[in-house]
Order: sequence, then structure tokens, then C-alpha cells
Amino acid sequence: MSKQSTPVTYNQEQHLALVGLNGAPVNALSKALRIGIIDSVKKALSDDKVKAIVLYSHLPLFSAGADISEFSGGDLSPMLPEVLDVIEQSTKPVIAIVGGNAFGGGLELALACHYRITHAKNKVGLPEVHLGILPGAGGTQRLPRLTDPKTALDMIVSGAPTPVTTLSGVFDLIVDSADELQAAAMAFATDVVEQQMPVKKVCDIELSMTSDIEALFEQYAQGVAAKTKGYFAPGHCVLAVKAAFTHDFKDGLARESELFMECMKTSQARAQQHFFFAERAASHVQGIAKDVVARDIKQVAVIGAGTMGGGIAMNFANAGIPVVMLELKQDALDKGLALIRRNYENSAKKGKLTTEQVEQRMSLLTGTTSYEDLSNVDLVIEAVFEKMSVKKEVFGMLDKVCKPGAILASNTSTLDLNEIAASVSRPQDVIGLHFFSPANVMKLLEIVRGEKTADDVIKTAMKLAKTIRKVGVLVGVCFGFVGNRMIEPYGREANRLMLEGATPEQVDKVIGKFGLPMGPFTMGDMAGLDIGYFVRESRREFIKHDPSYCIVADKLVAQGRVGLKVGKGAYLYEQGSRQPIPDPEVIEIAKQEAKRLGIQQREISDQEILERCIYPLINEGADILKEGIASKSSDIDVIYVYGYGFPVFRGGPMQYADEIGLAEVRDRLNHYKETLGEYGQHWFTPSSLLNDLADAGKTFGSLK
Ligand code: NAI
Repeated sequence: MSKQSTPVTYNQEQHLALVGLNGAPVNALSKALRIGIIDSVKKALSDDKVKAIVLYSHLPLFSAGADISEFSGGDLSPMLPEVLDVIEQSTKPVIAIVGGNAFGGGLELALACHYRITHAKNKVGLPEVHLGILPGAGGTQRLPRLTDPKTALDMIVSGAPTPVTTLSGVFDLIVDSADELQAAAMAFATDVVEQQMPVKKVCDIELSMTSDIEALFEQYAQGVAAKTKGYFAPGHCVLAVKAAFTHDFKDGLARESELFMECMKTSQARAQQHFFFAERAASHVQGIAKDVVARDIKQVAVIGAGTMGGGIAMNFANAGIPVVMLELKQDALDKGLALIRRNYENSAKKGKLTTEQVEQRMSLLTGTTSYEDLSNVDLVIEAVFEKMSVKKEVFGMLDKVCKPGAILASNTSTLDLNEIAASVSRPQDVIGLHFFSPANVMKLLEIVRGEKTADDVIKTAMKLAKTIRKVGVLVGVCFGFVGNRMIEPYGREANRLMLEGATPEQVDKVIGKFGLPMGPFTMGDMAGLDIGYFVRESRREFIKHDPSYCIVADKLVAQGRVGLKVGKGAYLYEQGSRQPIPDPEVIEIAKQEAKRLGIQQREISDQEILERCIYPLINEGADILKEGIASKSSDIDVIYVYGYGFPVFRGGPMQYADEIGLAEVRDRLNHYKETLGEYGQHWFTPSSLLNDLADAGKTFGSLK
């Protein structure tokens, strides 16, 4: 099958028209491809010598689906459903050779063909739900006509790539390996011609609703509502598939289209599509020349085998990169390595790893108490105590022993990276790699660029993030970088609201309903209230003017109520349980403190709680953008979704603000500035960037 540079190639071999998708890199079904497919099918139909049409891909992927850049509009005809209709109504059989992944519209294209052939290692999927929509080109109507309703629902509602071998009924032939596919497909196509096999139209398959299927849909819808709480599209996916059983094909398509449009109009679809692009945009760092070459990372060292060091080391072992871990004392090292082994063994117990994999990963992890053993590593990540003097001591040692060109990274969450860099003779090699806890699980990696960090070090870090399956976001140096700096006003307000009369439960409930996995009080208890306390201790100068600042949390820590690990914090916990139980004693502490500080307690509405927690966080994000600590607002959104569980259906805090309108956010900040007395005057001044954008009727997203 020859390769040409047009988006769709057309060749004829004997009685077969060979139509090749050739839209690099992923055969996104752009207008050019859609026109090319229609033209090719029409050409084949008008040629008497052609008896069947073979649709295949020149690329490793069959097709990644819709061209999402077209979502913003324009003249898009012919639309995909029209293309698929031309294929399905072809009077000559159309055979799809699905040699690689077929996703979204790509799979819908294959489903509209009369025969489908693939190989056993292939995966296909309908991921539209992740963009807040549903398959809108017949996928919800054709898939259940080929396979059973449960399989169709699972695929469409989860959006997950699915092994073709689990999709009974969808493919007419599945060969064992990709190598055999082309020959087998051509033999199959020849059979279709020679045996005059029929034009098998999926749309002709009749489905009807039975009481069993009705019950399945009912149960499925309930499960989806519970599992995908807050998301709009999954429920609509169920309704669309159900329509395949309650409507004939044509009406089913119309219903799918109606449901698709309902999804498309939601703020969730906008948010999820924004996030799709945001994640991809995060890896594009501006200002670094294309020809800058990343350094090779073949051997890594981690200093400190504590909570973070252990998790960080696991990331590299998981990616097949050897790691040497350094601790000052052998017993701390032994403890750290034993904990890593326990983590791996727990994964093996859950069936996520084999025992061979556990041993293979452990074999990549070695320990040492001597800096001399780090002379050959390409990257060192320091994860020792959060104290500048300790960090400087460690970096001083690294400066002495590490080879030239080794990258020296710190996992500090609050300390000044530039100060650390200034303490060594090679500040250009110093960078922050801020992992989130648990470091082997959380997807986010804040990559902190120091004043002197070299471009190739940044490039290496961005590349490395991908190697260890993290989403790397480049940020600048400031207290708490992007994520923790923005979480600070959020936590401050949650605490202040308690003084003003809200309960931890009320606040957590509002935040949970908004879509975060847990509210600030549950999160504080889980992380340990002592952590926040130590951060405050290091910043007393900055907060001393506000005697109410996290005062209840300070009192709780003073009483030893540091959270879940001791069974009490902002809540109580029964032994062995993580379920927070409201504690009247905490409410009483808040009452007493409010009285002492002259704060009048009152009933606080859920709306006020939401605005008071989220808008200052957004306001801090605006300052971060203004200062260039984050280079684009979408980077902040990626940080918040992957580091803090901000709901994807809101797109991240900055997209959420753009959706509400920046003038509204600014006005509500001003409202609290005016109504909360001195406290409001101090903490609720809108960022100048927020003001400017609000005045101009612009969004954060417009600042690209
Ligand atoms: P940790 O207390 O669990 O571990 C620190 C480890 O470093 C201990 O095992 C200690 O023995 C070792 N250590 C201390 N001084 C050392 C030295 N001079 N040489 C070698 N080893 C030394 O602390 P954790 O939580 O792992 O934090 C480590 C770093 O990671 C801190 O900078 C922290 O701010 C940062 N971080 C922590 C997060 C968390 O959620 N715990 C999240 C993100 C960053």
C-alpha cells in the first residue's frame, strides 16, 4: 500500500479500492480527511472495476478521532456523521483495517464500515466523556448494535481504551499479531469480493428493549450517578446508549445528537476541553531554544529516605532507572528501604505487580551513608528536613562530590531555591523538583526554575517528568511556589470562617459539593495539623498583624490534636477509622477564640463559604500570573487538578474564574473587603491583574 502526502490516499489493486488515512501525526478527522474519505468512497462507487473498498491507515494509529481544534467552530461541513452515512450506505462493501488504536470518531468511523479487522494487541475506545461530551457520530447507536449493552456502556461511560479481544461482536477478524494483519486483511477483502459477501450495515441491526435490558440501564444509571458524582456527561452517555434500544436507528441518531448538544453547551464541557489543552500546553516551555539538548539521566540519587524520599525513589525504580538513597544513619536508611519494599509488596498483594517486578524494582534501589557513592550520578534529589541550614549543608556536600554536569535538585516546598543555588559553585545546575505526597502516586511535579537554572537543566526536568509518568509544570521561585502559595489563603479563610460561626463540617461539605475530594479540615487532619503549624511558625512576621490567623488550628496543635495520626484534630476519629466525627469541643474553642478576639459569630451561607475559600485562592493565582511565577493560567489549572484534586469538570481555579466572569470574582472580593472590617481590608484586595482583566472584560485564558 503506497504512501503519498495527501491526507487520504486512493489506490486500486485488482477489484479493491484502497483508501489510506494519511493525516499525520494521528489521523485526526479534520475537514480535509473527511472530504478525502467521501471523495474516495464516491470514486470507488463510480468505478465498475472496484468491487470492495478497504479503509486503512498509513500511520501507527488508525485514528485518534475528532480534530479537537475544530471545536471552536468555522465551516465544518461535511461533518463526521455525514461521512459515516456515505460509508454505511455504500453499495460496495467497506472493510476497515484497524491496524492501530482507534479512538472517538476514529472508532466511530470503523463502526460505520461493513467489516472490521484488527490484531489481538490493539485497543480502541470512545474517550469523549473525558471532554465532557459523548460520542456524537453514531458511536452510542452502532456500538450496542454490535456488542452487548453492558460492554457498550462500560466503554462509552468510562472512556477507557479497551482491548479489542474483550469486545465480542465488534470485529469480524482478529489476527494474533500486527505483522499478520495486512496479509490477512487483503485475503479477507479478496474473499469478500470473490464470495460476494453482503454489505453488512450496522444500522440495519434491530435492537429492542426487554425488561432485562431496561433493568440493566436503570441499575447502570444509578451506579454511574454515584461513581461520577458532579459530572454531567456520564449520565447522558447512558441515556444515549439506551436510545439505541428505544428508538429506531435514525431516531436514535437524532437523540444522540440532541444529547451531544446538551453536553456541549455545559460549562463542564468547556472546562474539560480547556483542561485537555492545558495539560498538553504545560509541557511546552516558551523561551527555551529547540536545539537545547536535555542531559542524559541514567543514574539518580535521593538524599533522605523519609516520607518524600522513599516515594521519589520509587518513581525512578518504576521507570527502570537505578537510584542510590543516602541517609546519615544506617537505621534510617534501612527503615526507608523497608518501607519501599512494603509498599511494593502491598501492590503485589493487590495484583498490581508480580513478585518478580517487586524484586526487579528493589534491585534498582541501593542505599548508602557515604557521599562518595554519589560521584557518578546524573541527578540528585534532596528530600531532607525543611530547614535552610540542613539543605545548604547537603548541597555543600553534593557540590564537592558530584561530577560536573550533574543536576542538583531540591524537593523543598517552601524554602528559597535561589538561596540554596547561591550556596554552591554551580547554581546553573540547581533546580527545584517539587513532588506531591504520596510522591509515588501524585501525578504533579512542580519544576522550579531558579534565577540561574540552565535551559538544558529545565529541558531535562520536563523530559524526566514524562519518563516517570508525571505531569511537569514549570514555575518560578516564591514562597510555596504556585500550588502551596494559593492553598494558603484557602486554608486561612476556612479557619477564619470557623471563628465567624461556620463548623468544619459545614465548610467541608460545601467544598465537597463543589467537587474537591475533601474539604480543608479533613485535608488538614490527614496531612497533620503540625505541618501547617510549622509553616506558620516560619512566617510569623508576615501574619502577626492578624491575631485571628489560623488561631483555632494553633490551639488544636498546642493541645496535641494534630490530626488523623493521633485520632483527633479538627475532628475526632475512632481507632483505625478515617471517618471524621464532628467534635463539639472544637466548636467551643472557636467560640471562645471569637469572643476573645471580638468576632461576632453568625450564620454563614454556603455561598459565602464557597466564595471566601475559592476566590482568594484565585486572587493569589492572579498575583502569581502577574509576577510571572506561572507563565500561563492553564499551568495553574493543571497544578490544581493534579496536585490538589480540583475537579476537572471545573477546569481548574483559573478556568472556573473565567467561567464565572472576572468582574464577578473581583466584585465579590471587594464585597468582603468592605464587609469584613479590618480583616477584609487586609486580605481581600483584588489583584491588580484581576482588576485590569475585569475592567477590560477579559479572561485569564486570554493572556496567552
Ligand atoms: P521526613 O522527615 O519524612 O524525611 C526527611 C528524611 O531526611 C529523614 O529520613 C531524615 O533522616 C533525612 N535527613 C535529614 N537530614 C539529612 C541529611 N543531612 N542527610 C541525609 N538525610 C537527612 O520529611 P519529608 O516529609 O519526606 O520531607 C522532606 C522534604 O520534602 C522537605 O523539604 C519537605 O518540605 C519536602 N516536601 C514534603 C512534602 C510532604 O507532604 N511531606 C510534600 C512536598 C515536599
